[in-house]
Amino acid sequence: MKIVITRKIPNEIVQLLEQYYVIKMWGKENEPMPRELLLEEVADADAVFTNVADQINQEFFEHAPKLKTVCTMAVGFDNIDVQEATNRGISIGHTPGVLTEATADLTFALLMATARRIVEGMDYLRQDQWTSWGPMLLTGQSIYGKTIGIIGMGRIGEAVARRASGFSMDILYHNRMRKHDVEDQLGVKYCSLVELLKQSDYVVLLTPSTPETAKMIGAKQFELMKKSAIFINTSRGTNVDEEALYRALKEGEIFAAGLDVFEKEPISSNHPLVSLDNVVLIPHIGSATIETRMEMAMITAKNILRALSGEKLLHTVNPEVYERINN
Ligand code: GLV
Repeated sequence: MKIVITRKIPNEIVQLLEQYYVIKMWGKENEPMPRELLLEEVADADAVFTNVADQINQEFFEHAPKLKTVCTMAVGFDNIDVQEATNRGISIGHTPGVLTEATADLTFALLMATARRIVEGMDYLRQDQWTSWGPMLLTGQSIYGKTIGIIGMGRIGEAVARRASGFSMDILYHNRMRKHDVEDQLGVKYCSLVELLKQSDYVVLLTPSTPETAKMIGAKQFELMKKSAIFINTSRGTNVDEEALYRALKEGEIFAAGLDVFEKEPISSNHPLVSLDNVVLIPHIGSATIETRMEMAMITAKNILRALSGEKLLHTVNPEVYERINN
């Protein structure tokens, strides 16, 4: 059986898979496998080891008649047509859980870097502008004791709330469903999206990307935020109206934004957001610690090994396929 791996991944993971299967791996770490090559290679593939940058859509499935599983080295799977996979009896594996703490760390790092203008400070120094100490030089926003509003109280939202407690922040959240157990454990307060946007000093977006969340934060929502508010997005860029965000930042409707994700990735250095001073922008690295990425790769490999030997995956998005396979 054959496994297509769409990025160069660490050797130990490849070795684990090639003990049992034929591997076709794209040789580059930071560039996607060209689409035509991917479509050609999946023609006789049994499994695909993918990531957030591949479009696993109907066209892809049409080229892959033997496919049994697609396993993504990510928690998010908005780049995968899960319904189409399920219709075809193809399991979709992903890696929830292991990246929760790393992503919450990054979310908080982005919040702090944005509030305290860390990147601007480094640029200032690099450009030799630092001539003396200044009473109001690079003054940002306080973090300790302020109000944070978390939109999307899933695993990562909870982990961010735990960090915010350490900073004595008041924690508001908005979620599709109210979570009384989390409220009891973490002292977070449920409120409507409008209330959250009005009251929060930090608005942190952590919802998955679904048709319901598309551009859920746009002009109206930025207008509701405080002028001193900082907006952080470590979920998916498609959840935000980027043009409206640009305008809000440019016109001082909000203080700043920290973004790990964008409507269309990658963005280039001439993207309008890059021209602003009141942003911290990073290239979709929420889970990027060595330990976390190794664990994610290992789980993805194990998901594939299990799927190919007819076992249940460690984490699957569409468990309905088990019934199809067994009947
Ligand atoms: C990264 O964005 C992921 O979904 O794991």
